[in-house]
Amino acid sequence: MSSIRADFPILSRVHKGQPLVYLDSAATTQKPDVVIKAISDYYTRHNANVHRAAHFLAEEATTLLEDARKQAAQFINAESPAEIIMTRGTTEAINLVANIMQAELQPGDEILLTTLEHHSNIVPWQMLAARTGAKLIAVDVLANGDLDLSDFANKLGPHTRIVACNHVSNALGTVNPLNHIMTMAKQANAITVIDGAQAALHEAIDVQDLACDFYAFSAHKMYGPTGIGVLYGRLEHLERLPPWQGGGEMIEHVTLTHSTYQKPPYKYEAGTPNIAGAVGLGAAMSYLSQIDRDSLVRYEDELINKALRRLKQIPGVRLVGEPAQRRAVISFLLDGAHPHDVGTLLDQQGIAVRTGHHCTMPLMSALGVPGTIRASFSLYSNEDDVERLIQGVEKASTFL
Ligand SMILES: Cc1ncc(COP(=O)(O)O)c(C=O)c1O
Repeated sequence: MSSIRADFPILSRVHKGQPLVYLDSAATTQKPDVVIKAISDYYTRHNANVHRAAHFLAEEATTLLEDARKQAAQFINAESPAEIIMTRGTTEAINLVANIMQAELQPGDEILLTTLEHHSNIVPWQMLAARTGAKLIAVDVLANGDLDLSDFANKLGPHTRIVACNHVSNALGTVNPLNHIMTMAKQANAITVIDGAQAALHEAIDVQDLACDFYAFSAHKMYGPTGIGVLYGRLEHLERLPPWQGGGEMIEHVTLTHSTYQKPPYKYEAGTPNIAGAVGLGAAMSYLSQIDRDSLVRYEDELINKALRRLKQIPGVRLVGEPAQRRAVISFLLDGAHPHDVGTLLDQQGIAVRTGHHCTMPLMSALGVPGTIRASFSLYSNEDDVERLIQGVEKASTFL
């Protein structure tokens, strides 16, 4: 793992006279050279619009886009590339599902989500509920940051049409028991939507094993560029459901009064896609695929366990959430100090963390905290980062 840092040029930056400690990977990961070069190479040598022209550059650009789609299908073990829709990211992917599902929702139907969700897996469902008269219900979270599975069992019912849940919580690192949740949701005949934004960078994803209907993730949270992400949708749904946005690329035939649509995935990709983004995503997936995922998870686990042990020894530190299974994220508070002040003091020592509600306001209110200080780790994090974080928090605790 130590040689990996050299792949990420930004990690050699110095801030406030100190080597950068980047512990904000849950917000966005840094990018390896291979991703930066793939995007630059695309614009330098292959740039053209896809699918529409007879010339060789358009053919190359189309091949690159479609190769990235095939790679994404393999990356999450989808049955076919037709199940891979390129979106702007997780947020757009969930909005897409929430919009196409409108066709199948009626007043009285229920959308079941959880208190652990990021706003992007809450607000689109609120908007869908408002448009359709469906009811939004949220599964409670336990004080340790795990989902309350008995509450889930109680709230899942004959009217549940959609179950939306994250794979890993961005605020607490909780790994949700998805196999259990998917099995129960299927027994209730609900459509399942998984927000995988915080999972794709750590563990191998297998959508067939999960047997979910939809799975969303963002490239920029797994070493790829911003502005591109993936929505996996089970083909039978993509064939049955209507398109969302209309425009070029998604049509088969257009008259002034009527249009017919392409087959999935193109039916859901109106307009010129983010081709360079797809190339960068492809490069990020190739990069990640060279790394044994089990070893990566073990490595990240060792780091966060060490950080957790050391943080607990600092007087005044209170962990927020101690989930049974945690992935790469630690949220904490320092007694008597506002999270933003701690974040600023850490920044002055060259340590980048995130503070605030982490786009999970309902979770923060359920846990009774205004926000937290969040340190998030990834494959380029190391023991020095842990050491510097601990020293930084110790210093902040004496200062504040
Ligand atoms: C769990 C989770 N879901 C969704 C999102 C939204 O991702 P994006 O902003 O890339 O669409 C995030 C981003 O922080 C996240 O952590």
